[in-house]
Amino acid sequence: MKIFFTGVTGFIGGSVAARLLAEGHEIRGLVRTSEKAEKLTAMGIQPIVGNLSDRDILIANAQWSDAVINAASSDNLMAVEALIEGLAGSGKVLLHTSGSSLVGDDARGEFASTKIFDETTPIDPSPLKAPRVALDRLVMDAAKRNVKSVILCNSLIYGAGLGVNKDSVQLPRLIKQAQKSGVVRHVGKGLNIWSNVHIHDVAELYLLALTKAPAGSFYFVESGSAAFVEMTMAIAQRLGLGKSENWSHAEAVAEWGYEHATYGLGCNSRVCADKARRELAWKPKYHSVIEYLIS
Ligand SMILES: NC(=O)c1ccc[n+]([C@@H]2O[C@H](COP(=O)([O-])OP(=O)(O)OC[C@H]3O[C@@H](n4cnc5c(N)ncnc54)[C@H](OP(=O)(O)O)[C@@H]3O)[C@@H](O)[C@H]2O)c1
Repeated sequence: MKIFFTGVTGFIGGSVAARLLAEGHEIRGLVRTSEKAEKLTAMGIQPIVGNLSDRDILIANAQWSDAVINAASSDNLMAVEALIEGLAGSGKVLLHTSGSSLVGDDARGEFASTKIFDETTPIDPSPLKAPRVALDRLVMDAAKRNVKSVILCNSLIYGAGLGVNKDSVQLPRLIKQAQKSGVVRHVGKGLNIWSNVHIHDVAELYLLALTKAPAGSFYFVESGSAAFVEMTMAIAQRLGLGKSENWSHAEAVAEWGYEHATYGLGCNSRVCADKARRELAWKPKYHSVIEYLIS
């Protein structure tokens, strides 16, 4: 299969691309710098130099491909519009990467939610996440223009990436702050819970979705869950830093920025991936982020 990637130098995109290369697929990847283009060439990926606002490049490469994997951004509307334009009428796959902070609440670490979303649960997004929900709707609606559009809505991903960028987003930021200050901290009391999934299992699901998912489909992605305080305690144990500590929302915002402190690290984001297990025969192998952190 000829596959065009955005985000192929990233954590998710690089990991999925590594698995697809191993299966013998031909890959082209959008890349922003000549230095990273060289790394892609060394991996056996044809670099296409450009960025997400290069509409003509996105359209031309979508038309070249048998399938597009959009792993650069869950929020870039212009890029998604261009990819749909390139694929419209073709019946080819557009596999889009979303993120489960779209179901996030305003817990700021102060409570654990019991609400677990599946694909049928209505979402009432915060103003900050409403554009992501609208973008996902646009991707699903592309099925009406004969695009086989599929969304994988990932929860917190852990584990080492298989491509150029080995690091995910949430846990590496907690670890970096801990290494810098000598104290592991979570937002508020750290009681908020996130679903999570290992990057190797994510990559396997992208491969399954590429061939098995129907047009206009949406899947949450998880194979476990943990409260942030459990994760920061495990990080503290691993780094030999005693106990983890509470941090006010304001202090967390100063360190990580408003969006990341409030959503990526401070909200509850609990989702259920039974639909992916049932419809795509996905069998994740990893189930404990805590085991991963302390081992
Ligand atoms: N990691 C997670 O746990 C997780 C979970 C759910 C959702 N997500 C979402 O999934 C998306 C990808 O996540 P990730 O963890 O793989 O991020 P990442 O490692 O930072 O990768 C982002 C990729 O997109 C590329 N990119 C970003 N902006 C671009 C632009 N304007 N033009 C061209 N390429 C661009 C980057 O290129 P460079 O190499 O040049 O920087 C890189 O290849 C993000 O939107 C993230 O919020 C992530």
